[in-house]
Amino acid sequence: QIAPVITIDGPTASGKGTVASLIAQALGWSTLDSGAIYRLTALAVLNHQVPPDDALAVAQIAEHLDVSFHVNGVTLEGQEVSSLIRQEHVGNLASRLAPNPALRAALLARQRAFRRLPGLVADGRDMGTIVFPDADLKIFLVADVLARAERRYKQLIDKGISANLEDLLADMRERDRRDIDRSVAPLVAAQGAHTIDSSKLTIDQTVQTILSLYRT
Ligand code: C5P
Repeated sequence: QIAPVITIDGPTASGKGTVASLIAQALGWSTLDSGAIYRLTALAVLNHQVPPDDALAVAQIAEHLDVSFHVNGVTLEGQEVSSLIRQEHVGNLASRLAPNPALRAALLARQRAFRRLPGLVADGRDMGTIVFPDADLKIFLVADVLARAERRYKQLIDKGISANLEDLLADMRERDRRDIDRSVAPLVAAQGAHTIDSSKLTIDQTVQTILSLYRT
């Protein structure tokens, strides 16, 4: 029996991660935070001082990524890096590396391996288009850029990380542009995806909307 999958794709800080964990909790399923895998690759690239423009060397890093996800976090080469990978410079590097087709190919099997019974909620940019094209339910979660920048600002401040709203807004526009304009696995709604605008909904309303789409 093949495990069911719900995919949630969308731009950075659209609330995908939070919504994905709540849905997984409600259904008793596991989660795949694919952005974290791109961030872990970016961190490994930094640690090993690989030139970001060296597409093959970056893909090699992705291929041999030594990571382990556990209940309270994730380790890279044995080091706990959960908060490190959330830093803006790591996210920005991940976004700059992400167009590399060899890197994306290297991460494909690693992402698909998260599919296990009783089910998986996967969030990212290309979960419904490339990684799990046969998903049972596909969601495209959007929100306007200011709402997303404010959300990210609050997240960082709450974690005790310093942040500047103007800079976040500029970074987010730049990251959106890169994710949408790239030729490989661009950020688009998958065929058959339901688009939900989370700027007008609470987290709970978003979760309930997705759960009722799945159950019908
Ligand atoms: O979602 P998050 O901000 O953690 O992702 C970091 C970066 O990784 C994104 O800006 C995006 O460019 C890239 N990414 C991707 N495909 C995914 C998930 C993330 O290209 N499925």
